[in-house]
Amino acid sequence: SYNHLECCKTFALNAHEKKRKITQLKHVLITGCDSGFGNLLARQLDRKGFQVTAACLTEKGAADLAAATSPRLNTLLLDVTDSASINKAVESVSRGVGERGLWGLVNNAGRSTPIGPTEWMKLEDFTEVLDVNLIGVIEVTLQFLPLLKKARGRVVNVASILGRLSLTGGGYCLSKWGVEAFSDSLRRDMQHFGIKVSIIEPGFFKTNITRTDLIDADLRRLWSRLPHDVKDSYGAAYFDESQSLSMGILCSSDLSKVTGCMEHALTARFPRTRYAAGWDAKLFWIPLSYLPSFIADYVVNVLLPAPKTDV
Ligand SMILES: NC(=O)c1ccc[n+]([C@@H]2O[C@H](COP(=O)([O-])OP(=O)(O)OC[C@H]3O[C@@H](n4cnc5c(N)ncnc54)[C@H](OP(=O)(O)O)[C@@H]3O)[C@@H](O)[C@H]2O)c1
Repeated sequence: SYNHLECCKTFALNAHEKKRKITQLKHVLITGCDSGFGNLLARQLDRKGFQVTAACLTEKGAADLAAATSPRLNTLLLDVTDSASINKAVESVSRGVGERGLWGLVNNAGRSTPIGPTEWMKLEDFTEVLDVNLIGVIEVTLQFLPLLKKARGRVVNVASILGRLSLTGGGYCLSKWGVEAFSDSLRRDMQHFGIKVSIIEPGFFKTNITRTDLIDADLRRLWSRLPHDVKDSYGAAYFDESQSLSMGILCSSDLSKVTGCMEHALTARFPRTRYAAGWDAKLFWIPLSYLPSFIADYVVNVLLPAPKTDV
């Protein structure tokens, strides 16, 4: 039985070693790695032996991440709204992956502000967010598809529960609904070539995107440029209440719930089409999105501040 135990141990070690070797051949590109989910995923996959290319928006973000990870991890600068920057990233990744191609593309980069009542927005407030969260995802994906096709790889697109239920005005919810639709078409079109596409739908998590001080400061900016009659129709109390709508209570600080889903989508033999990440997504927001609109509207009205009604 001692021999049997040794045999099992050797078998397990061999299997582990084999898995590690396969992993080491797999290249994954992640966008938006300066902070948040992208940053954590880059470290997580690096620890597991993947060849990670972490695309950052800033030099500081790239330098900090490089300092905290193994020499295997590459960083590059990528602004997903800039075609020249995307082309440069494709060239660099293409040289790195060679004939093996790119195993994984994680479209994670995103921004949230400006968010607020629709009436407070100008057209450019929508386009600023759509350019990063939707057009950026589409262009990066299109440019990397040939490399992904070579590896019969995986695309992981970060949407949101706000891609299932539109809670606020501004470009964010629109962009995430767009990511859902784009990912559905992409999955159906690319399945013939062995490319699998997964959508991550996180609930609320503590990252820069949900920082209430930044969101409040931006709301203040929107409020300050409103004409007096519009301000009057909402009432100053509305603005104070908006500020007190604290995402702090809702937000989970366990970002690994999201990066765990991303890793599953990249590594599982049968990745899921959609991953709801976080209890609020699973038990509240997504179920609410299936209910009739009048019920969802009622619940959202209870949660969000209302303009003064005597207008
Ligand atoms: N946190 C949540 O509750 C939540 C929920 C659902 C979905 N999401 C989604 O999760 C993804 C990651 O966000 P996060 O929560 O981890 O927030 P985050 O920490 O702000 O991460 C977003 C990253 O995208 C980068 N970025 C912004 N504009 C970019 C551009 N034009 N090109 C390239 N990179 C750009 C940001 O860089 P800088 O930091 O330098 O600006 C940042 O590193 C986003 O798509 C977001 O919409 C988040």
